[in-house]
Amino acid sequence: MERIFDGGVEEAIHKLENPERVKRHDPAVLFSRVGLRRGQVVADLGCGTGFFALPAAKSVGKQGRVLAVDKTPEMLKVLEEKLERVETDNIEVVQADILSTGIEKGTVDVALMANTFHDVRGGSLKEVERILRTSGRLVILDWKKVPTQAGPLLEARLSPEGVTAILKGRRWRIAEQFDMGPTHYVVVARPPTKRYHADRGAMSSGSKLEKLAA
Ligand SMILES: C[S@@+](CC[C@H](N)C(=O)[O-])C[C@H]1O[C@@H](n2cnc3c(N)ncnc32)[C@H](O)[C@@H]1O
Repeated sequence: MERIFDGGVEEAIHKLENPERVKRHDPAVLFSRVGLRRGQVVADLGCGTGFFALPAAKSVGKQGRVLAVDKTPEMLKVLEEKLERVETDNIEVVQADILSTGIEKGTVDVALMANTFHDVRGGSLKEVERILRTSGRLVILDWKKVPTQAGPLLEARLSPEGVTAILKGRRWRIAEQFDMGPTHYVVVARPPTKRYHADRGAMSSGSKLEKLAA
């Protein structure tokens, strides 16, 4: 992510707020496709200015909750300003690192990483495993590793095969993988079983796999 801030955080915010983004990856289409349901708890990890968090709050309804996690205060300030303007009381803004969110163990139905996994990679999975319910899912949406006008540097991106290799390296199970338009893909995965955790104790970071996947 630091790379996207090369132009400064203001420029990064400007890009995230571009209304044209909805044509690239419409949150409503994503949430319908992955079956986000009323009453669910979503952790939007690397939520930025809330492009996905706000529609997620609508999808899960009043009985559900969205935990909007980001480490960049400037991003969260924009999200908080939006929250003052809309009537939404089911979004909790959490300023934290994805590697250590402080979210209660085993409470999240859907962890979302939109345009963020290529930055945090396999090192983030231990925390995602901690916060997800055993029935939970991780939804990764990210830039394809092909030249595009916008988006992170090509060498900073991961292909969907690279993402699935990292996940499988930690015994995640791939539920589905699909394209979202010409620039993005989605990988949905289920966490390793408890039995695997018990057998293995602390799992490796998957860093070797990441080198292979890069
Ligand atoms: C490209 S932006 C995507 C924002 C949002 N998901 C979207 O698609 O509109 C990536 C976001 O992830 C955040 N981020 C990157 N690494 C992070 C980390 N380790 N912990 C928390 N937030 C992180 C950045 O601050 C930034 O807001």
